[in-house]
Amino acid sequence: MTPSDITLVKDSFRKIVPIADQAASLFYARLFELDPSLRALFRGDMHEQGRKLMAMIATAVGALERLDTIVPAVRQLGARHAGYGVTEDHYATVGAALLWTLEKGLGADFTPAVKAAWTATYTLLANTMIDAARSAQTAAA
Ligand code: HEM
Repeated sequence: MTPSDITLVKDSFRKIVPIADQAASLFYARLFELDPSLRALFRGDMHEQGRKLMAMIATAVGALERLDTIVPAVRQLGARHAGYGVTEDHYATVGAALLWTLEKGLGADFTPAVKAAWTATYTLLANTMIDAARSAQTAAA
C-alpha cells in the first residue's frame, strides 16, 4: 500500500465512523443478498457482530502505517474464521459487500482512487487471514 492509499482509507473511514451501525447493517444485508447461504454461519446477535466487524476494521485502519503490529492479531482472526466455517471463496464475497457498503456510505467521495485504496487494504487483510487459516489447517492435518 502506498502512503497515498493509507491517507485515502483513513480519511474515508473517518466519514463512515459516525454511521458505523448503519454501515454494518447495510453490509450484512448486501452480504446475504450476494450469498444467502452465508447467513447460516452467523450464530450470534448480528448487531453485536456488526460492532465487532467495525471495531476490527477501525483497528486495522488505525494501524495501516505499522501493519506489522497487527499481523499477529489478524492471523489469529483468520485461524478463528476457519473454525466458523469460512472458506477462501467467501473472502471475495465479503470484499464485494464491503466495497458496495463503502460506495453507499461515501457517495461521491467513493472515488476510483478511494476504491483502489480500500481494495488494497481488504486484500491485504484477507490474504493474511487466508494464509493463517491455511497454516492452521496444515498444522492440524
Ligand atoms: C477482513 C476480513 C474480516 C474481518 C476483519 C472480520 C472480522 C470479524 C470479527 C472481529 C469477528 C468476531 C469474532 C472474532 O474475533 O473471532 C468475526 C466473526 C465472524 N466472521 Fe468475520 N471477518 C472478516 C471476514 C469474514 C469472512 C470472509 C466471512 C465469511 C462469511 C466472515 C464470517 C464470520 C463469521 C461466520 C463469524 C462468527 C459469527 C458468530 O460467532 O456467529 N468473516 N469476523
